[in-house]
Amino acid sequence: MAYTHMLVMFFIGVSLCNGFIYRRFYAKSPQISVTVQDQWFVQRLDHLNGADSRVWKQRYFVNDSFTQDSGPVFLMIGGEGAANPAWMTYGTWITYAEKMGALCLLLEHRFYGQSHPTEDMSVDNLRYLSSQQALADLAHFQTVMTEKLGLGSRKWVVFGGSYPGCLAAWYRIKFPHLAHAAVASSAPVQAVVNFTEYLDVVQASLARNHSDCPRSVKLASDTLLELLAYKENYEKITKDFNLCKLLDVSSKMDFAFFLDTIAEYVMDIVQYNNDNREFEGVKGTNVTIQVVCNIMASESLGSPYERYVEVLQHIMKAKKEKCIDVRYHKYVQDMRDSRWGGPSSTGGRQWLYQTCTEFGYFQSSDSPSQPFSGFPLSYHVQQCYDIYGADFNLSMVTGAVQQTNENYGGLNVQASRIIFPNGLIDPWHALGINTNLSIDLVAIPMQDAAHCADMYPARPEEPPVLPAVRRQIFDQLTNWLQL
Ligand SMILES: *[C@@H]1O[C@H](CO)[C@@H](O)[C@H](O)[C@H]1NC(C)=O
Ligand SMILES: *[C@@H]1O[C@H](CO)[C@@H](O)[C@H](O)[C@H]1NC(C)=O
Ligand SMILES: *[C@@H]1O[C@H](CO)[C@@H](O)[C@H](O)[C@H]1NC(C)=O
Ligand SMILES: *[C@@H]1O[C@H](CO)[C@@H](O)[C@H](O)[C@H]1NC(C)=O
Ligand SMILES: *[C@@H]1O[C@H](CO)[C@@H](O)[C@H](O)[C@H]1NC(C)=O
Ligand SMILES: *[C@@H]1O[C@H](CO)[C@@H](O)[C@H](O)[C@H]1NC(C)=O
Repeated sequence: MAYTHMLVMFFIGVSLCNGFIYRRFYAKSPQISVTVQDQWFVQRLDHLNGADSRVWKQRYFVNDSFTQDSGPVFLMIGGEGAANPAWMTYGTWITYAEKMGALCLLLEHRFYGQSHPTEDMSVDNLRYLSSQQALADLAHFQTVMTEKLGLGSRKWVVFGGSYPGCLAAWYRIKFPHLAHAAVASSAPVQAVVNFTEYLDVVQASLARNHSDCPRSVKLASDTLLELLAYKENYEKITKDFNLCKLLDVSSKMDFAFFLDTIAEYVMDIVQYNNDNREFEGVKGTNVTIQVVCNIMASESLGSPYERYVEVLQHIMKAKKEKCIDVRYHKYVQDMRDSRWGGPSSTGGRQWLYQTCTEFGYFQSSDSPSQPFSGFPLSYHVQQCYDIYGADFNLSMVTGAVQQTNENYGGLNVQASRIIFPNGLIDPWHALGINTNLSIDLVAIPMQDAAHCADMYPARPEEPPVLPAVRRQIFDQLTNWLQL
C-alpha cells in the first residue's frame, strides 16, 4: 500500500477545561462574548538558555473583583487551545475566589490562542514549545506580577484541567517556592506512548448503565469494517456518515484515519459526558452516553450498524456539523501549514507536536477489551513523521515520553499540597492519581463524572458527587492557606 501522505488525526476538540481537549479535529475554539480585556506580558523566548534574550508578548486575563490583601492569588493555567475568557467569570474557581478574596489570573499557554512566541510554527520554531518552557513562563509571570502588583505577602494557588492539570501539579513540584498549592483536575501525569487504556475506559463507561452497549457498538464497528472491504459500498458509507467527499480509502493511513475519525465522535461523548460546558460556547453537550446507548439499544432502528449511523447523525446534528472530512491527505496538508491563522493553528499542529515530543497519549485501538478497530499505535506515530518530518519513529517518541516521566516523576509524585480530582467516567483518569499518596497529596476520584467535571459551573443535572467535591477542594485549600 502506498504511504504517500499518511497520517492521521488527532484531535483536539474544543476548548475545554480551559482550552483543550485532547482530541479530534481542531475545531475553532468557541468563544462567547465576555468583557474581560486582553492584557500582555513581556515573556522570554527561551528560559533554558540564559544567552538568549529574545522576548515576545503573552496574553493573560485578570479578574480583580474579589481581591483582598489578605487573600491568595489564583493562577489558572492555559492549555492546548486559546485561553477562553469565559473562565474569568464562570467556573468553580471563581466561586472559591469570591469566598477567599482571591485575585484571579489566567495565563494563555505559549503557541496557543494569541500567544505567539515566534513568527510562525515551523518545526524549527516549535522547539520552543514544551511543558518545561510553559512552566518557566508561569514562574517568570508570577515573579514579575508579584513585583508589579505588590503581591509579595500573598500565597499563590495554581489551577488547571487536563494538560494544564499536569502543568499545575508540575509547577508545584518544580517551583515549590512559588506555588503554595495546586488543584490538578483530570491530570494525566503519567505520559505513555501506547495509551490503550483510553478505549478500555470508554468501554467500561458505555457499559456503566447499559451493559449491552459496548457489544452493539462493537457489532456496528465490525460491520463497518466489513463494508470497507468493498469499494462498491463506499457510496453508501459516504451517505451514512455524511462524509464531505466520496470516501476514498487507498492507503493504510486513509483507512485508519477514517475509522479513528468516526470513533472519536463516540470517544468525545464519553470524555465529556454531562459536563456543563455550554458557557464556553460548546455545542451538542446534551448528547450523553445515555443518549448514545439508548439509540444503540433501539431494535426498531434496525441492525447495530444502522443504529450506529443514527448515533453519528444525531451527534452531528447536535453539534451543527454539516459533514465529516475524512481525507487523510487533506488533514496532513492542513497540519503541515505552519502559519498563524492556518487551518490547524487553533491548536491541532501545536498539540500533536507536544504529543510526539513529550507525552505520546496515543489512543490506539490495540486493546482487545474495547469495541473499535483499525487505528493502531503505528498509525499515530506515523502522523508525527508525516507532519513534522523524517526524524520521528516509535523509538524516538518512546524516548521522549520516557524523558518526560523522568523529569516530572509520572505517577510517583514527590511533593505536597496538590489535589487530584478525576472523573471516573473520563478515560484520562487512567493516567492520573486516583489514590491518596500522602496526607497532602489528595486524590478525589469522582463517581459518574467526566473530564474536569469539578471545574465547571454547578447545575442541578450534574453528577450528584460534585457539590461535595467542590466543598472538599474548598476546605482543603482553606486549610492549606493557613499554613
Ligand atoms: C469577576 O467575576 C465575577 C463573577 O462572575 C463577575 O461578576 C465580575 O464582573 C468579574 N470581574 C471582572 C473584572 O471581570
Ligand atoms: C448512570 O445512571 C445514574 C443514575 O441515573 C446517573 O446518575 C449516571 O450519570 C449514569 N451514568 C452514566 C455513565 O450515564
Ligand atoms: C439537544 O438540544 C437540541 C437543541 O439545542 C435539541 O434539538 C435536541 O433534541 C437535544 N437532544 C437531546 C438528546 O436532548
Ligand atoms: C499497545 O498495547 C496493547 C495492549 O497492551 C498491546 O497489545 C499492543 O501490542 C501494543 N502496541 C504496540 C505497538 O506496542
Ligand atoms: C528511529 O530513528 C533513529 C534516529 O532518528 C534511528 O537511530 C533508529 O534506528 C530508528 N528506529 C527505527 C525502529 O526505525
Ligand atoms: C484521601 O484523603 C481524604 C482526606 O484527606 C479523604 O476524604 C479521601 O476519601 C481520600 N481519598 C481516597 C481516594 O482514599
